[in-house]
Amino acid sequence: MIDQATKDRILTAAKIEEVVGDFVTLKKRGVNLIGLCPFHNEKTPSFTVSPAKNICKCFGCSKGGSPVNFIMLHEQLDYADALRYLARKYNIEIVEKELSSEELEHRNDRESMFAINQFALNYFTKILWENEDGRAIGISYFKERGFRDNIIKKFQLGFCLDKFDSLSKEAIKSGYNKQFLLKTGLCTESERGGLVDRFRGRVMFPVHSLSGKIVAFGGRVLKKTDNTAKYVNSPDSEIYHKSNELYGIFFAKNNIVKEDRCFLVEGYTDVISMHQAGIENVVASSGTSLTPGQIRLIHRFTSNITVLYDGDAAGIHASIRGIDMLLSEGMNVKVVLLPDGEDPDSFARSKDSSEFNAFIQAHQTDFIRFKTQLLLDDAAGDPIKKANLINDIVTSISVIPDAIIRSLYIKECADRFEMRESVLAEVLAKKISGTQKTISQNEIKQAVIEKDQEKPFAFMQEQNLIRYIIRYGKNLIPVQIDENKIEQISVLDYINQSLIADDMQLEYGLHKYILQEAIMTEGDFRYYFLNHPDESVRNYAFYLSEDKYERSNIHDKFNKTETEEERLKVIIPRITLEYKNKILEQQSNELIAELKQANAENDYKKINELINKQMELNKYRQTLARYLGERTIIAL
Ligand code: CTP
Ligand code: MN
Repeated sequence: MIDQATKDRILTAAKIEEVVGDFVTLKKRGVNLIGLCPFHNEKTPSFTVSPAKNICKCFGCSKGGSPVNFIMLHEQLDYADALRYLARKYNIEIVEKELSSEELEHRNDRESMFAINQFALNYFTKILWENEDGRAIGISYFKERGFRDNIIKKFQLGFCLDKFDSLSKEAIKSGYNKQFLLKTGLCTESERGGLVDRFRGRVMFPVHSLSGKIVAFGGRVLKKTDNTAKYVNSPDSEIYHKSNELYGIFFAKNNIVKEDRCFLVEGYTDVISMHQAGIENVVASSGTSLTPGQIRLIHRFTSNITVLYDGDAAGIHASIRGIDMLLSEGMNVKVVLLPDGEDPDSFARSKDSSEFNAFIQAHQTDFIRFKTQLLLDDAAGDPIKKANLINDIVTSISVIPDAIIRSLYIKECADRFEMRESVLAEVLAKKISGTQKTISQNEIKQAVIEKDQEKPFAFMQEQNLIRYIIRYGKNLIPVQIDENKIEQISVLDYINQSLIADDMQLEYGLHKYILQEAIMTEGDFRYYFLNHPDESVRNYAFYLSEDKYERSNIHDKFNKTETEEERLKVIIPRITLEYKNKILEQQSNELIAELKQANAENDYKKINELINKQMELNKYRQTLARYLGERTIIAL
């Protein structure tokens, strides 16, 4: 438990730009900072950090919040652990409050399970290093495998004595509850109701969550005999969902970001040996095929993944199926086939990191190419097989989100299969239209439902913003960043950033929807929205882009005709201010209504409060009015 005073110190110390800056490269944009959102895939920045408000927010996926919220989201920590993280960052000493027995009682199941796993971890490592059997059996086993002391300690490997209940006895003696020994799967219950250690006689591999908590264990037998499984693993539980965890992610995450690449291997020992060889951006799927949850976990840190296959992998065909999923999540997938008879574990032990990396560099193949080659070899001389194979490859290509990459692959496949590119492109197009409809249908439905909503107070002003986004969203306009710096930013970014800066949000469903889509869309907005799959979006875009809305060209003071496009640098700031002004008018109206109410109730405290608010609001409105009266380019 963290006491209140410490909590307050942490909250005041944590600067949003410093906290976010550890994970996102930020650039100054007016009073704010912007960068690429760490929570979704994007190519133009919509993740905004406001040092003044000490908050961050993504205007694409709307994730964000205070420094603590950001860390909770980004590091997948609970509130208390996010505070601990920030305390470490700002060198604030945490005085952990002792839990009272009542609080202990109220610790929820998850916390109790983490606590007991931590206890078991300490116990297993202590046995490994200090117990006679632990040293003689456990340590010598790891040594035989070539693991050095520092790496055994880093991965917190351990040993479970070959007795029925050594762990459970110790745990109960230390006051832990039987219920949680069972819930975590550390123990099972014998028929007579006694506790039996699940991992007896095994060397222990603890599984760390992204934030370093122990969620599970894997125990390996020392000698393989026919009737025992090589590994026994903790069962799924409230704190462990095997399909959402990746072994090694806690130790790898920083290096994955640094290298902008993640190696994917199969097992515990592959990860550990690679770390020992100096390659630290590696995780294991632990013998199962990859799940979407695991892929997203990797994708939070990088889009580049290299899958390492054993040289003689019999399962290579099976595991390839999982890789389409990586592609569909927008990952760039490379594959390396290790030399015959080697797995990442043995291979890493025979190499240092520069040799290892050199091998990877020389042998990594793009996944589509790899799959094509592999299947082509299989289908040699069999036209039916070959047709299936082409279909299979085009399916893989069709799930890639990026259109340019798709068309490059199609071109290459056409060459390899000696087929006309247009034929493959046609197959591709069919597959894509099949998948895309289902994706956008839901989003569209939502927009259509909201479409009939009542028009908000600032409807016309909102509409104006959307109109210019559709027509000129990608055009660049100059923005004064500070006294002597002007930067070019897009109309979309300008509008979006301005809304963010004042924490304002479009209210009308269709407007909101179009803004969201614009943020997520590459390419020309006018074209995109005019061809939108939803009719109401399409029609609205058409209505807004009709030329009658093009204001007649005006003559400036030098009597030169300027087109609307040339005047964007004046128009966009102006319509943004007009929108803000309208919102402020609405807020002011609301305040007045509240004031009336408070007056009627003789609530003087409230009246005072409201008058203060009103004054602040008026000050802001006056500033806006001044800007609106001028024709200047203003900073956000
Ligand atoms: N695995 C498992 N249960 C098994 C076999 C394997 O859970 N009975 C998982 C483990 O996570 C293991 C991974 O699948 O790490 C890969 O299996 P394997 O290559 O057989 O194990 P290694 O980790 O390579 O172990 P070793 O080198 O000791 O054989
Ligand atoms: Mn192995």
